[in-house]
Amino acid sequence: MQERGQFSSRLGFILAAAGSAVGLGNLVAFPVMASKNGGAAFLFIYLFFVAFICYPVMMAEISMGRATNRNPVGAFSELSGGDKRWRLAGMLAILTPFMIAVFYTVITVWLVVYIKEVFTGNLRGLADDTTFGGIVSSPSLFGYLIALLAVIFLILLGGVKGGIERLARVLMPTLAVMLILLTIFVLTLDNASVGVSYYLVPDFSRIDLSVINGALSQAFFSLSLGMGILITYGSYFSREDNIPASTRMVAIADTSIAFFAGLLILPAIFAFDPNTNTDDLSTSSVGLIFSFLPKIFLSMELAVGYTGASIVASVFFVLVFFAALTSLVSIIEIPICCWMDEFKISRKKAVAIQAVLLTVFAVPATMSLGISDFFTNFTSYGGVSKSFFDLISDVFYETILPLVGFIVCVFCAHRWKVSGLKSELVVGDPNFEGSWLEKYINFSLGTVIPAVLLIVFISTVSQIYFA
Ligand code: PFF
Repeated sequence: MQERGQFSSRLGFILAAAGSAVGLGNLVAFPVMASKNGGAAFLFIYLFFVAFICYPVMMAEISMGRATNRNPVGAFSELSGGDKRWRLAGMLAILTPFMIAVFYTVITVWLVVYIKEVFTGNLRGLADDTTFGGIVSSPSLFGYLIALLAVIFLILLGGVKGGIERLARVLMPTLAVMLILLTIFVLTLDNASVGVSYYLVPDFSRIDLSVINGALSQAFFSLSLGMGILITYGSYFSREDNIPASTRMVAIADTSIAFFAGLLILPAIFAFDPNTNTDDLSTSSVGLIFSFLPKIFLSMELAVGYTGASIVASVFFVLVFFAALTSLVSIIEIPICCWMDEFKISRKKAVAIQAVLLTVFAVPATMSLGISDFFTNFTSYGGVSKSFFDLISDVFYETILPLVGFIVCVFCAHRWKVSGLKSELVVGDPNFEGSWLEKYINFSLGTVIPAVLLIVFISTVSQIYFA
């Protein structure tokens, strides 16, 4: 078997994991959720969940990967002594990223089309209400799809260090600088301060059970948990390095970017219309990026001219594209790693297999928004007609992540045992032994954390499928 890849350093791991974590969840879903749910009040709850629920689960996933040097299927299997039931859990942690990649690819293709439109001077067209529907139902999407897939698989052919890490080393710092510059610019617009206070003044009256539930799902999703990603990235992480400290850096980077995205998007919205009622903002990230934001950018025409507004819009869309690309590359690596480990094949072959499989699923998903009637009205549940794209997004994006997280916790606490996890965490971090963190994990990983995740899973299922 060929040698498995490894990140070149701790920083390489942190950048790659942050590249995975920073995505549409941070740049779009987080600002909207925060604005609708009490601003800073939501932020406090979110931070609480990141620290007390997500951080331990992140460490557990990374440790499983590093202890076994395997993908999720191999990791569950090896740590359970070859138990078939746990191997099945590993398969769920491969199927999930596989399917998420399918619909995330489709969204990224739309982003590419938007970037092309803004670059060719058509921001005004994008701000028109009918444009989005026209773009997603146009067969010309297939050309962009093939081009995007070619880029992604070429990066993945480069392997862990030469592909994934190299991409993150270039794109992540660029993304951070673009985000900060754009935020500073937006903050100088008239009425931006209304958005800032809307975002940062806590309104605790908005907090209820569904907001708390939403905050946890959002944190989980934003940190790329339950997708097998951190298990796989853990398997590329050096045994000399410190898991708790590196994980902390990834969580801080991801949360900071989400916070800055709020500081960009809300003031932009209020500068556009100071009387915006945030309750009216779409809950869907997709609706917000593709339908609402082009209007906001166009409204900047008055202040900075059409070219200025188009430049701001292109910086924003390129930024979102970079975030989506690094997330996509990370998630497609999971099945590739699995094919390499489990079937003992070369990276080249695994990449080729995955390219075929992803294309086979991405094509019908692309056809789900009007190109094909069959895939557009694929099924119905919860009283609504659903496309093939919706089905994948509902099952694998909205629902299953907390369940995978629950399984990881139960596995680590009760099968691998907290002592097994601990012996991995002390490698590279001798101070872990006897620390507060160790005591907290001992107490919570097999009890409170999985209980909370199970509750979130059950309530999501009842909301989506039995509404
Ligand atoms: N953490 C990512 C986000 O916040 O958007 C979630 C993600 C989605 C990761 C899709 C990877 C991916 F392909």
